[in-house]
Amino acid sequence: MAIEFPDYYRPFFNPCRFKGLYGGRGSGKSHCFAGHLVLRAASEDGFRAVCVREVQISIKDSVKQLIEDKIASYGLSGFFSITETEIVGRNDSRIIFRGMQNHTAASIKSLEGYDLAWIEEAQTISARSLELLTPTIRKPGSEIWASWNPENENDPIDQFFRHQDSPDILAAQVNWDGNPWFPEELRRDMERDKARDPDKWLHVWQGHYRALSEARVFRNWRVDTLSVPDRCIPRYGVDWGFAKDPTAAVRCWLVDDRTLYVDAEAFEVGVPTEALPVFLARVTGIRDWASAADSARPETIDYCRRHGLPKMRPAKKGKGSVEDGISFLQGLDVVIDPACANLIREFGSYAYQTDKRTGEIVPKVEDANNHGIDALRYAVERLHRKGRLLPADRPVTVPSAPPDYRPHVEAANDDWML
Ligand SMILES: Nc1ncnc2c1ncn2[C@@H]1O[C@H](COP(=O)(O)OP(=O)(O)O)[C@@H](O)[C@H]1O
Ligand SMILES: [Mg+2]
Repeated sequence: MAIEFPDYYRPFFNPCRFKGLYGGRGSGKSHCFAGHLVLRAASEDGFRAVCVREVQISIKDSVKQLIEDKIASYGLSGFFSITETEIVGRNDSRIIFRGMQNHTAASIKSLEGYDLAWIEEAQTISARSLELLTPTIRKPGSEIWASWNPENENDPIDQFFRHQDSPDILAAQVNWDGNPWFPEELRRDMERDKARDPDKWLHVWQGHYRALSEARVFRNWRVDTLSVPDRCIPRYGVDWGFAKDPTAAVRCWLVDDRTLYVDAEAFEVGVPTEALPVFLARVTGIRDWASAADSARPETIDYCRRHGLPKMRPAKKGKGSVEDGISFLQGLDVVIDPACANLIREFGSYAYQTDKRTGEIVPKVEDANNHGIDALRYAVERLHRKGRLLPADRPVTVPSAPPDYRPHVEAANDDWML
């Protein structure tokens, strides 16, 4: 095998104090760090590296085997001698393997003088271990690498790498689709999870934090492609972005009063009003059919109506409409097309609030991860009353266009995105 790295790894060859690779299974995180570590050990005389994890009961728990495989595949077997516990190069380089839980403030001192510590499965590393390790790896130019599949936003490694900004930190999220050698067997495992258990798929393969399943608002959904019967009509909903929030638009279809199929979305932060008609047109058909948009911005709706979306109307949004809309969606089988990556993310993370004191779930949704979901609620608003499906599919009532409305087609202009 040649010595090859995925494109995403390129910046990781530059020196940096802290390097983090996080994301889903099969993205090549372990292989990248193992390969890079071997190259450094082979080329830097006296190089010292320690591969750590929180718990290492036996050497079999470590990345030693992976490193041995890399050495063999690079044709360096003659250069390194491998013992039960360590790997030593002819240039006096050394790679050792340690469990942080076996270390104390005193024993960790043996690692001073190391050039590199690689924390594998770093989602399990404790705050104590991180605090012990960081000052110990103190040699000039030394680096700390971490690879992990995110588990919880509050985990020490996520707080360290993802919740502070520093020129000393290089972190990248990587997933299987960034790995050109993603194996076929893993792809089959992934497809199975994607079809049967989207929660698991988001966590294991897409690198999302593990869902707090009881707090999750939606469990009645899956990622799939459906063919929509001819008799169905599309429903459109739009949620306007504010400051940091994206503008989100979706198209969905109610099939047989039971299945809600969402097959198109547009998501973007910072779309100026004059670009909205072009942006929204990414959702096929939205110019021709009725759509319901967040009523908080009547002037924006008015603008869109005068610029190619004459059938857009404000969503009703009455008292209790969020809860009613959610309970309506919860009563359907929601199927989300794989093309709707943002909505899939939201369905995976939309959660009820938890009481900070008791940890109990309270019946109020968090105001986050809900832009596409809000758009979806608006889209189906007229199909239910108080969360219950209305008996017949009522004809869509289209408000008449304002008097100054002239059909207007925007020039295709995506300049605002640049
Ligand atoms: N540089 C590489 N060259 C060849 N195959 C690779 C390389 N990196 C990853 N792979 C393949 O991708 C699979 C997943 O990589 P791995 O490092 O185990 O991912 P992760 O640690 O992100 O779960 C490996 O089992 C291997 O088959
Ligand atoms: Mg790995």
